[in-house]
Amino acid sequence: MGPGTTCANDPEALHWCRSITASRGRMIDLSTYRPRGDKRNTPFFEEHLPLVYERRVRSGLDQLVGTMAALVVQVDHGHGLAHLAELALMGPYRYRECWLVETHRVYLLAADPAWPRLIVLEPLTGDFEDESTRWNAMYPLAAPHPNARYVGEIFHCQSCSAVRDLLEAQNIRFVYRGETPNPFYAQPNLSFTFLSDYTYNRVGYVDVPLDSLAPLDLGDRVLLDDDSERPILEAAELHRTLGLEGKVLGIDHMATRVLAGEREDAILEYLTMVPYYFWGAYNIHEMNSSTNVTRSPRVADEKQSPARVFTANNTPSYLNSLANLPMPTEEFVRNFGRRMHHIALEVSDGESDGLKHVDMVVRNLQNHGVPFLAEVVGECTDQPNLKQIFSKSSAHSLLITEYVQRCQGYEGFFTRDNVAALTEAAGHEERFSHGHVFD
Ligand SMILES: [Fe+2]
Repeated sequence: MGPGTTCANDPEALHWCRSITASRGRMIDLSTYRPRGDKRNTPFFEEHLPLVYERRVRSGLDQLVGTMAALVVQVDHGHGLAHLAELALMGPYRYRECWLVETHRVYLLAADPAWPRLIVLEPLTGDFEDESTRWNAMYPLAAPHPNARYVGEIFHCQSCSAVRDLLEAQNIRFVYRGETPNPFYAQPNLSFTFLSDYTYNRVGYVDVPLDSLAPLDLGDRVLLDDDSERPILEAAELHRTLGLEGKVLGIDHMATRVLAGEREDAILEYLTMVPYYFWGAYNIHEMNSSTNVTRSPRVADEKQSPARVFTANNTPSYLNSLANLPMPTEEFVRNFGRRMHHIALEVSDGESDGLKHVDMVVRNLQNHGVPFLAEVVGECTDQPNLKQIFSKSSAHSLLITEYVQRCQGYEGFFTRDNVAALTEAAGHEERFSHGHVFD
C-alpha cells in the first residue's frame, strides 16, 4: 500500500486496514472499566490513568494508531541465522526476507497473517554500537552480549508523521536520520521513539503493511544461500516432525521488567504511546513483585495484538534487607538492565497421547536439547486454568520463551500460584548464572 492508497480504495490492504479500525474487539469503555487485581496503585496513578486515556481520544491517537504490527529483536553480529533457526524450532515464526541497511541485516519473519511479524536486526560488524549497546554495557550480565536486546513493538498507524507530531507535543521523543547509527529506526514509513527511560524499549509506528519489507525501501534485498538457509529449514522441519505445528501458536504476551519505583511511570508512558488499556495488576506476595497487564481493546484474540506485561518488585533493592523478602525482579534489572524478560507463545488447548499439549511440546523439545527452567506449572483438571513453563533464555536474544496453555477456555491472564513459581524458577537461573549460562 503506497502513498495515495487508503483503506477505502485498496482492497488488498484490507487486513492492514482492519488492524487500525478493528471493531470486533472487547468493546471496553475505558471511562467506566475497573482494572482487575489487588495490586494497589498510588493516587498519582489513579489520577493520571483516566487523563492519559482522555488525552489519547482528544489528541486523536486512538484513531491514528491500531494494533501491533511487529516485534523487533536485535542480536549480536554472527547470531542472526542461528536465532532464526532457534525461532523456527520453538515457535511458528518463519523466515521470509532479508534486507540490508548500512549497519544491519534486517530479517523479516511471519506466522499467521493476522499476527504481528517478527523482525530480527543483526549488526554487520562485531563492533557496532548504538544506544542499546551502551545500555547493555552498564549491566554485568548484559555486557558480554553487547547488542542482544529486545528493541520494542511496532504498531500500525495511518501516518507516521502525524503520530510523531501528536506525541512530540506530549514530550515523547522520536529518532531521526543521523541521530542514531541504524537507519532502520528512522524511515519515511517507519518511525521509532527513543529508548524509554523506564523500560529501555522503543515503540515503533508503521504506515504501510509489513507483509514484506519492500515498501519500506530499506536498501538491497539479500537472498540467503543454501548453506545459510538450510539450518533454518531443518529446524522448521523438526518443529513439524515433533508434532508442534498447529499446537504452538502465536504470541500471547510479552513481559518487560522494570525497577520497583518506576512501575507506574512505565505503564502510563506506554499507555500514552499506544492504544492499549490497563487490564489490571496482581500482587505476587511470595516473589515480592507485581504483574501488571496492558492489553489491546480492539482484538478478541490476544495473538493479533499481544498483551504487554510489566513486572516490578514491590520494594526497591536497597530496602529489601529490612524485610528480607525475595527480589528476583529487582535482581534481574540490576543484572541485565530494564528489558523484556520473556515472550509467551500460546499452546492450543487439548491433549495428544494422553499429554496436555504444553506437556507434549516441552517433552519433545527437551528430547531435542532445548533446556527449560523447572517444570510445567499449573494443573489442568476439570476447572479452567493455565499451564505454563519458561525455557532457558536464548543465547542469541537473551529472551526466555514461555509456553502457555489456556485449559478449558481460561479467560484470565495468569494465576498467582503459577506466576510465583515461574518467577522463582527464573530467579534461580539468573542468580546462579553469573554470565556463564549464556556462553
Ligand atoms: Fe508470562
